[in-house]
Order: sequence, then structure tokens, then C-alpha cells
Amino acid sequence: MNTPPIYLDHQATTPLDQRALEAMLPFLTSEYGNPSSPHSCGRTAARAIRTARQQLAQLIGAKNEMEIVFTSGATEANHLAILGAALAARPTGGHIVTTAIEHKAVLAACQRLVDHHGYTCTRVGVDAYGRVRPTDIAAALTPNTVLVSVMHANNEIGSLQQLAAIAEITTPRGIVLHTDAAQSAGCGLLDVLDLGVDLASLSAHKLHGPKGIGALYIRSGLHITAQQTGGAQERGLRAGTPNVPAIVGFGVAAQLITNHAVPSTTFIRTRRDRLECRLLAAIPGTTVNGHPHQRLPGNLSLSLPGIEAADLLDRIPGIAASTGSACNTGSGEPSHVLTAIGLTRDQARATLRLSIDRTTTDTDIDQAAELIIHTAHTLMRTPPKAA
Ligand SMILES: Cc1ncc(COP(=O)(O)O)c(C=O)c1O
Repeated sequence: MNTPPIYLDHQATTPLDQRALEAMLPFLTSEYGNPSSPHSCGRTAARAIRTARQQLAQLIGAKNEMEIVFTSGATEANHLAILGAALAARPTGGHIVTTAIEHKAVLAACQRLVDHHGYTCTRVGVDAYGRVRPTDIAAALTPNTVLVSVMHANNEIGSLQQLAAIAEITTPRGIVLHTDAAQSAGCGLLDVLDLGVDLASLSAHKLHGPKGIGALYIRSGLHITAQQTGGAQERGLRAGTPNVPAIVGFGVAAQLITNHAVPSTTFIRTRRDRLECRLLAAIPGTTVNGHPHQRLPGNLSLSLPGIEAADLLDRIPGIAASTGSACNTGSGEPSHVLTAIGLTRDQARATLRLSIDRTTTDTDIDQAAELIIHTAHTLMRTPPKAA
């Protein structure tokens, strides 16, 4: 049997926690009722969804479980939040503000408002650490601004945004604040009340839950327009029979984090720092992207001197990692996040994203460091191919 690679791509996706899987299994087999059915099978499914809603609400510090709407993932949650909130506030001709480093799901939803609803959109730039200045958000607002969407933690460079300071600007003006929190919720870093956000997008597969399920937190009292209509599921905000097994797995994955039943962020940060120190010491000229402290504990984005990250990873099949965001891989285009923080095209191509998580061991770190250092040194000695 082939040895599996050392998995350092937890920002792309995480393995399903065994406890989440076990909770899901009955709902894939014997408990197959439709939660909308008025009989005992339906009631069992409906109860399981209610429990998961409570588990999600607890994870993110929501006031009550009715503030959670299940979706197919963070992509759908972003679309529901952005289109739903903007169109509820103003059917056409409004203005929205976002940042230059958002996930493509957010940028695409904003673009739909521009292309189909007569909206204008301002993309605010970030500093060299990938952080947006709240004063720049304030400066971008116009009398027509109905929504600001700023991600909590970046999926490529891990930088955390100052959402509480941004909420202090948007809330008094009655502007809705949305955050894409797909990357931060699993670290237990998201508290929607502390941050003052109105909407937050979540994804189960980023926090050891199953794929194909996510959620949108909608602050009580905020009205948004449904984007998928039909049945009355999810308070009419997301029609369609809910994916009960996945929702149950998502709930358990969330509860494990809330109950500290999994290794802490300190555990993850210690391993990330160990890998960072070893690589920086052994590969001179390597730089770390993202904020030195205000970044996700498991994120390590490195630009290596004169080395193509894709080439490096091709030569190390024993490591599963990314050259940037998984979404950009294969497009050939340099990542919009890396260019937004000022990296040149060459520096962006030399960028490697290693993401560590609670399942990463010290042995994984030491073996991965050795493989990367050895391969980088080989590539540094190899003259580049003539064009
Ligand atoms: C920041 C961010 N937003 C949204 C998504 C999309 O999430 P999903 O796969 O649940 O649609 C991702 C996943 O890559 C992400 O990292």
C-alpha cells in the first residue's frame, strides 16, 4: 500500500473527524426521514437539525440557533449573504464595498450585483501584511452603500482583519457587515457578537466536518432576500430538502471545537512556528507572507528565492501542499491575493502555502522540513532552463 503524503493543505480542506462521521452514519442509513415530514421519522431528522443549529450557534457566539441557515457551503453562503442583503436593502443602483483579497466566491457575488443589478462595487486595497485599514473602508463608503463584505481570515496568507473596528464604522450608518469566516471558525476565533458582524459565512469541510455543507449566520432582525426559492425550508431562505447527515456531522465538528475536545490553537501554532523557523533558517532569502502575529495559527505562506513553488511540489510527491490558494491552482494566473500585497509575478510563483492543523504531528513537521529544504537546495543549484 502506498504511504499517504504528509498532508499540509488544511486550508484547502480538512479530514472528517471520526466522531462527526459516527454521528452522521445513522442519518445515512436507518434515520432517513425528511425533516419536513409530520411523522416520527421526520421529527427525528428535524430534531437532529435543531441540535446541529444549536451547536453551530454556540461555536460562533450567536444569540440563538434561528440565526443559523444551512447552505451547501461557504460559496453559497457568500452568495446568499451578499446578494440577499444588498437586494433586500436596495433592489438596484446601490453600492457595496469589499476588499482586494476576498475569496473568489465573494468577488463573484459582488460582480453579479454589478452586472445584473446596476450596483457599483469598490474593492479596497490592503497593506503589505494583507490587512485592510478600517479608515480605508470608511473612506470608500458613499450615501448609497448598503453592504460591506470583509473576510475574517484570508485563505492564502492567513491575515486576520479588524472586523470589530470596521463594525464600529458600518453599524451606526445602518450598513450591513458581512464576513466570510470559512477559514477562521475552525480555530474558534469567530465570535459574531464581539466582532459586531451581521452576516457570517461558514464551511464544514474547513473544520473537520463533511464537504458540501455550510451555513450563514444572519443576525436576528436582519432581513435578506432568498436566492434559492421553492419550499419553506430554512425559514424560506434556502429552499430544498436539507442534507441531514452532513448537517449532523457539521454540528458535531463544531461542538468538538466549542468543547475543547480537540487540540488547541496553541498546539497548531507551535508546530507552524517550528516549521517556519526551520525553513527560514535553512533556505536563505525566504520570506513569510501575511501578518507576523495577526494571522491564522496554522497558516504558513512562504516565498522562496528564485524557486518555482509548483516545480518544488512536483518533486516532492510525499507532501500534499498548495502553491497558493487551491482555487488559483491550475489557472496559470498569479494569485490576486499575493499581487494585492505587492508581490511580483515571480514572487507569487515562488510562493508555497503550507497549512498545519490539529492532525499534524511533530514527525510530519520534521519530515516535511527535511524534504522541502533538500529539494529547495537542489533547485537552487540547478541553473534555470533556457527560455
Ligand atoms: C475564505 C473561503 N471562502 C469560501 C470558500 C468556499 O467554501 P466552500 O468550499 O464551502 O464552498 C473557501 C474554500 O476554499 C474559502 O477558503
